[in-house]
Amino acid sequence: MTATLIDGKAFAAGIRARVADHVTRIREEAGVTPGLAVVLVGEDPASQVYVRSKGKQTVEVGMASFEHKLDAETDEATLLDLIARLNADPAVHGILVQLPLPPHLDSDLVINSIDPAKDVDGFHISNVGLLGTGQKAMVPCTPLGSLMMLRDHHGSLSGMNAVVIGRSNIVGKPMAMLLLGDSCTVTVAHSRTKDLPAVVRRADIVVAAVGRPEMVQGDWIKPGATVIDVGINRIPAEGGKTRLVGDVHFDSAVQVAGAITPVPGGVGPMTIACLLANTLTACCRAHG
Ligand code: GUN
Repeated sequence: MTATLIDGKAFAAGIRARVADHVTRIREEAGVTPGLAVVLVGEDPASQVYVRSKGKQTVEVGMASFEHKLDAETDEATLLDLIARLNADPAVHGILVQLPLPPHLDSDLVINSIDPAKDVDGFHISNVGLLGTGQKAMVPCTPLGSLMMLRDHHGSLSGMNAVVIGRSNIVGKPMAMLLLGDSCTVTVAHSRTKDLPAVVRRADIVVAAVGRPEMVQGDWIKPGATVIDVGINRIPAEGGKTRLVGDVHFDSAVQVAGAITPVPGGVGPMTIACLLANTLTACCRAHG
């Protein structure tokens, strides 16, 4: 038996279509165009690809896209001044500062300078606190997209054993909070976890977010479990080329799991779709 493939690409296209419809209505009825500002500091090639993709999809759903590219030596005061201007700009409903920032910049300080109502990444300390206490928050996009796919596949997640591998602020920790909010029994595993394969084998839901190519093996997976692979890793392939793989060894896991997200075409497209949905939410809240 092989696992059902969870098609994140198609799911994300559906979300974008619904967002686009809603954007059309807000523009016609309230004369407001939702706007997303993306700030990129430096020339990290992967970040440049993501930012370009975000800008393109923002425009495709009818929103306004504001891109601010700053050079790698930008000082903190200049960046904070830009964020203050974006916070005050009524045409900007969402602000995203692409991470990682160059090491001379204090990421926590920068993120916490964003107006929490415009924090479409859900990284501001007040949104983290709201999520952690089960209140209405801006929810980080990758975990939100992962949760949407899990809910769509299972209906209720109540009582399921979930293992999140990875404890990052961007994915692992908010993912754990969301699964807890849906009444899963949640284990957060990380690099110091003892006997990780045994921990993963207990899980009905596995969310892999460690950034280690193909680390999770098929024989770690409980038969029939649902596997959400958040990893996007580029590894060398034949003929001097490269290929994208997740944190899960797909070919072995697909033989055991009940359902699995592919890489590419799983979680990846959901992240930007959820960013657009969060921007729409921020706009709707701003305009009552
Ligand atoms: N870098 C990698 N993922 C993300 C994300 O979801 N948001 C931001 N701002 N930066 C990232």
